[in-house]
Formats: sequence, structure tokens, C-alpha cells
Amino acid sequence: MDIRKINTTETLSLRKALLRPHLTPEQCIYPGDDDSTTCHLGGFIDDSLMSIVSIYQRGLPGQESKRGYQFRALAIVDGLRSRGYGLTLLHAVEQYARDNAADYLWANARMTAEEFYRKVGYTIDDKEFIVEGVGAHVIVNRTFD
Ligand SMILES: CC(C)(COP(=O)(O)OP(=O)(O)OC[C@H]1O[C@@H](n2cnc3c(N)ncnc32)[C@H](O)[C@@H]1OP(=O)(O)O)[C@@H](O)C(=O)NCCC(=O)NCCS
Repeated sequence: MDIRKINTTETLSLRKALLRPHLTPEQCIYPGDDDSTTCHLGGFIDDSLMSIVSIYQRGLPGQESKRGYQFRALAIVDGLRSRGYGLTLLHAVEQYARDNAADYLWANARMTAEEFYRKVGYTIDDKEFIVEGVGAHVIVNRTFD
């Protein structure tokens, strides 16, 4: 998988298809998507976009004294899951965060993906919360030395 930067518009069709099927692509635009400090990555196979993730310079509420980055909308197309692409893309997110002097990285993770984050070394918060129209989530995070 070839990972490269993409723009907000390029993320929208996979965001909708894989994460927010009940919304229109335009409704899948998130706050901060076009900020200069935001980075969208796409994973391409044979020049087709197969995976996405977006990274925002944004601390966890209550932990703004450290430099935090949030990632959102990490997704791999259905037929290509469980082949290591998710972890590959997450490693690219971690590299981006390290390159930008992040102290920590975090996400609001779907409970359906909790085991993925646990397996790849993230700390899982013990408080679940519901995102309207999507389901149960939990905060996951990792720190950098
Ligand atoms: C979650 C997601 C990004 C993981 O990507 P992936 O390419 O399938 O994951 P990988 O192949 O890199 O998996 C790494 C490990 O986690 C495991 N894993 C992946 N997804 C898992 C899940 N949902 N539940 C349990 N284990 C999972 C894999 O089996 C693998 O374990 P192994 O090393 O023991 O074989 C992908 O399944 C996806 O796009 N899901 C739908 C969208 C979504 O929910 N995104 C997360 C939003 S928070």
C-alpha cells in the first residue's frame, strides 16, 4: 500500500461508505478538516484509494498542557481488512505525530475496533460513550517518549 497525503474532498467518499453510510459525503466533513495543521492520509493500491485516516493537532479535553494529536476516520475498505493495512496506516499516523513533536496520540474509537487498538498497543479508557447514529465508543491513546 502506497501511503500519501490527500485532501479533505478525497477522504469523503470512503468516510461515507465505510464510517457514516447514513450521511451524505458533505455531512462527513469534520471540524478542522481544512486547518493548516491537519493532515489526511490515503492508502493506495494500484492507484486506487483503499484506506483513509485524518490527523488533527488537538489535545484530549483536560490534557491540553501536553501536545496532543487526534486521529479520526481510520478505515480500510471491506475486502482488504485483517491484512495488516490498518496497522500500516496507524504507523504512518504515529510517524506524522512524532515528526510534529507530539507527546501523545488519541482517538474516539468505535467499540467494534477496540480489540484492534488493544492489540497494537493503545491504552483503552474505561468509560464508554455513544456517538449519535454510530454507536458505542471509547477513548484510546498512546504516548511518545
Ligand atoms: C479497524 C480497522 C481500521 C483495522 O484495520 P485492519 O487492516 O483490518 O487491521 P490489521 O489487519 O492491521 O489488524 C491488526 C491486528 O488487529 C486485529 N484486528 C483488526 N481489526 C479488528 C477488530 N475489529 N476486532 C478485533 N481484532 C481486530 C487483526 O486481526 C490483527 O491481529 P493479528 O496481528 O493478531 O493478526 C478496519 O477493520 C476497519 O476499517 N474497520 C471499519 C472502520 C472502523 O471501524 N474504523 C475504526 C474507527 S475507530
